[in-house]
Amino acid sequence: MAKTTGASRSETRSQSSDVIHVPEPKLHQRAHELQPYGHVVKLPIALSQTACETSIELLNQILADTMTLRDMYKKHHWQVVGPTFQSLHLLYDEHYDKQVELVDTLAERIQLLGGVSIAMAADVAEMTMVPRPPRGREEVPVQLSRLLEAHEIVIVAARSAARKANELGDFGTNDVLVSDVLRTNELQVWFLAEHLIDASLAVTA
Ligand SMILES: [Fe+2]
Repeated sequence: MAKTTGASRSETRSQSSDVIHVPEPKLHQRAHELQPYGHVVKLPIALSQTACETSIELLNQILADTMTLRDMYKKHHWQVVGPTFQSLHLLYDEHYDKQVELVDTLAERIQLLGGVSIAMAADVAEMTMVPRPPRGREEVPVQLSRLLEAHEIVIVAARSAARKANELGDFGTNDVLVSDVLRTNELQVWFLAEHLIDASLAVTA
């Protein structure tokens, strides 16, 4: 049962002594969770309980790592330094936008499987497999290396989860993991990794 704190002044009297009901917002409401994290409420999508539970658990791990990678892109977008500032500043934000889309796709896949998606930063920080970078600025090669390592964590998990989802007949999750997560991450790895090749604009004699 929801509770409201604070005095209610929803009733007042007019000059003619008629009671007037003035609607007021009921603030600071709290209640029991509708569905605890980890609890699956099956929807009629013709998948077994085991398939749903397995996919939800795998997807939540990939979601936590994707949210971390997303936020690392914004960190580097703000903190990038050096002669490649302009191009990387823009590239990081392009990749960030794609990761934002992936986060929503993953979270909504978890919900439609009957699960609860991980959402808040503190919970994500506890779950993620991506190593935490320092708060301060780092050089471009370090930024790129950290991003590539985070992408590879997501790629390994996505391939493994896609295989498992297929075995369980959860082809929708397999499609999300392959068509969205895997392909996006592989493409972004290409765009990043090319920056770490030491190529000159002049042919060496
Ligand atoms: Fe910006």
